[in-house]
Amino acid sequence: MIMASAIEVLAKQAMKTFGDRACQKSLDKLWSLMSKITAEDVKLDKNILDYVGRQSAPMCVMDIFENKDITIAIFVLKHGVTLPMHDHPGMHGLLKVISGIVELNSYSMRTKNDHVIKSNEEITAVKHRSISLNSNSSACILTPSEKNLHEIKCIQGPAAFLDILSPPYDVDEFGKGPRPCTFFKIVKSKLCTESADVFEEVQLSVIESPRDFYSSTLKYIGPPLKDYCNK
Ligand SMILES: [Fe+2]
Repeated sequence: MIMASAIEVLAKQAMKTFGDRACQKSLDKLWSLMSKITAEDVKLDKNILDYVGRQSAPMCVMDIFENKDITIAIFVLKHGVTLPMHDHPGMHGLLKVISGIVELNSYSMRTKNDHVIKSNEEITAVKHRSISLNSNSSACILTPSEKNLHEIKCIQGPAAFLDILSPPYDVDEFGKGPRPCTFFKIVKSKLCTESADVFEEVQLSVIESPRDFYSSTLKYIGPPLKDYCNK
């Protein structure tokens, strides 16, 4: 019998988790598999990192797999760039850094968010503590209501992370075509206190998708998943 690769085992668990209604136990198992994934597991080597370091686009995307339930991809950020704050409407996501160091700033919306965000809308969100992630860090989870917005800064790059999203951005749930990814900027920020907790509350406004933040694409060369996952 041929042993399944780590990325195959991970993808299979992701489909199990998000193919049914995501239950906590299944999500925990996915998180634990995701936390163990390394750059070697997806064949992300020095050549790829060097290539991205030299290209002009601030980011490079390598699509690994997509079906109606999940998207799996690798994102590589050049040194010093910031992936601007964006949302993942109605989605779950897992992010695992496999190379370099990033700073992750996550926000949870206070405004009810089960709808498509309008461009003139002002949104209130709570900022979570910013965290620094490297290849030894566990995977981070976002849900439709918790940490659904984030901004990712590359502190030591190129930095790469593996991303699993469910459902994919392309899957329509609002009856308005693919769920849109919206970009935001902070317009106001204040410190709040609630039952001995001090936290930062921010006002966000929608911005156009930043033109200077385009990406290149590279072909994924790690263990293939397509045939395996569609069985
Ligand atoms: Fe994201």
